[in-house]
Amino acid sequence: MALDVSVSTRDGEIIQPAQQRPAPPCAIVIFGASGDLTHRKLIPALFDLFQAGLVTKHFAVLGFARSPLSNDDFRRTARDGISHYTADAVASDKSWEEFSKCLHYISGQFNEPASYQLLRERLEKIDAGHGTQCNRLFYLATPPELFEVITGQLGAAGLNQRPDEHAFVRLVIEKPFGVDLETARHLNGSVQHAFKESQVFRIDHYLGKETVQNILAFRLANGIFEPIWNRNFIDHVQLTVAETVGVERRGGYYEQIGAFRDVVENHMLQLLSIVAMEPPVVFEAEPVRDEKLKVLKALRRIPPEQTGEFTLRGQYTSGSVDGRPVSSYRGEEKVAPDSWTETFVVMRLQIDNWRWAGTPFYLRHGKRMPKRATEIAIQFKRAPQMFFPGEERLEPNVLAMRIQPDEGISLRFGAKVPGPTMQLQEVDMNFMYGSSFRDVEQSDAYERLLLDAMLGDRTLFTRADEVEQAWAWAQDIQAGWSDRPNNVHFYPAGTWGPGWADAFIERDGRQWRKM
Ligand code: NDP
Ligand code: BG6
Repeated sequence: MALDVSVSTRDGEIIQPAQQRPAPPCAIVIFGASGDLTHRKLIPALFDLFQAGLVTKHFAVLGFARSPLSNDDFRRTARDGISHYTADAVASDKSWEEFSKCLHYISGQFNEPASYQLLRERLEKIDAGHGTQCNRLFYLATPPELFEVITGQLGAAGLNQRPDEHAFVRLVIEKPFGVDLETARHLNGSVQHAFKESQVFRIDHYLGKETVQNILAFRLANGIFEPIWNRNFIDHVQLTVAETVGVERRGGYYEQIGAFRDVVENHMLQLLSIVAMEPPVVFEAEPVRDEKLKVLKALRRIPPEQTGEFTLRGQYTSGSVDGRPVSSYRGEEKVAPDSWTETFVVMRLQIDNWRWAGTPFYLRHGKRMPKRATEIAIQFKRAPQMFFPGEERLEPNVLAMRIQPDEGISLRFGAKVPGPTMQLQEVDMNFMYGSSFRDVEQSDAYERLLLDAMLGDRTLFTRADEVEQAWAWAQDIQAGWSDRPNNVHFYPAGTWGPGWADAFIERDGRQWRKM
């Protein structure tokens, strides 16, 4: 039995988010505007910002892709995306009417200079018509192999330069940023050939999630946790990103990438950096990113010959998720029938610095798990002496930060069961976003990141050196795995991974958290 001790915000008070600065006038050019990301995430996020008054009427979106769409076609697909992927119904909404006037589209080839002349002309018209004051945000939402081509062409056309000294020109780049150290370095080189690092915003959408930002708030705004946030009090940390989805229609991409490079190397290392970093001197982009980088530098390399000891891979076979049968990974569209690509990974990592020496960080990520759950669990050491009968059977104290779903934080501790005997049981003290901030709508990660990019705040974007450091660490693991490509254990879809995953952590005398 778990006792629920709920926390509440100040009595009866309706919490309103602090006044957010609206974006300055700006034209956003989306490369890849006919694609899934634009439809599902970017346009709905921009519409939400528009409705919230965080982008002004001096704002426009110029979609750019090969498909020969008219402005009206683009607006229609935008409206479909908004109806499907936001909470708001927009059918005859006045704000949709206003918003749709800000949407434009051009079709062209990303490798042809003529397309960029057309782009320039359309941007000049948009500046004149929408008052966007020559401020430009170029958003690369294309297949990654086009990132270099597009930045090169933007540079060659002079579109990387500010049209006037008061204007800004920024570049937002989607993931994946390279597929290994060499490609990431190469891409950084190409990008930095055309744009200054201060103009570049590399997206890791996990950093835009409210609950991920709350880890920073939790750590940096609450004095009571800092003294115990280290190897002296923490036994180990578990990071879990479990997904019920498979690879959907992205089999072709996933075959080349796998779970490690798709999620662990970027999203999970970002989570780990935020949990493990030192407090920055000030909460600004460079000091925060400096501290995250130091964590990545302190991450102990796993030599290729030791990958078997510190990592374990799995791949799903057919099974059942949410009560419905699902195919094996090898049976997915665009996946080789004899593929050894991993869809599940566990790892045991060490951070070699004073704060964390000797405290393992266990990472677990998989597709087709029984439950969607992203969580960071800090497990504390046991009390030094046991006084009460059965105390040794109590679970240790755990601080669990639930990133999604059921966003919140809980602290598990032992309490006396009411009655004549000194019997103890675990209870949870629970903070739930949904109930504590009932009247505040949570914004989507892309909303926050798009707004920050327009405002020029790079805190929640990854810097060139961070990206390269993460790949530098990852490359030994990749090398170790490529020596034994078939060392991948199968697990039925709808389970928590191969049985070996339990043995992996149990040999250290620990257990995976039950989700
Ligand atoms: P899609 O394949 O759905 O869309 C790709 C877009 O690029 C389309 O608009 C396509 O339009 C355009 N395109 C492709 N090739 C060319 C070309 N040679 N010339 C001109 N346009 C081209 O991809 P997604 O939207 O899913 O992903 C886009 C980016 O976002 C990728 O880097 C992906 O990794 C990243 N991302 C996507 C996520 C998602 O949920 N979808 C999540 C996280 C990251 P057209 O065919 O009209 O040319
Ligand atoms: C993306 C990966 O970056 O993150 C996907 O490419 C993964 O494979 C997704 O499903 C997870 O993001 P979220 O926000 O759904 O946890």
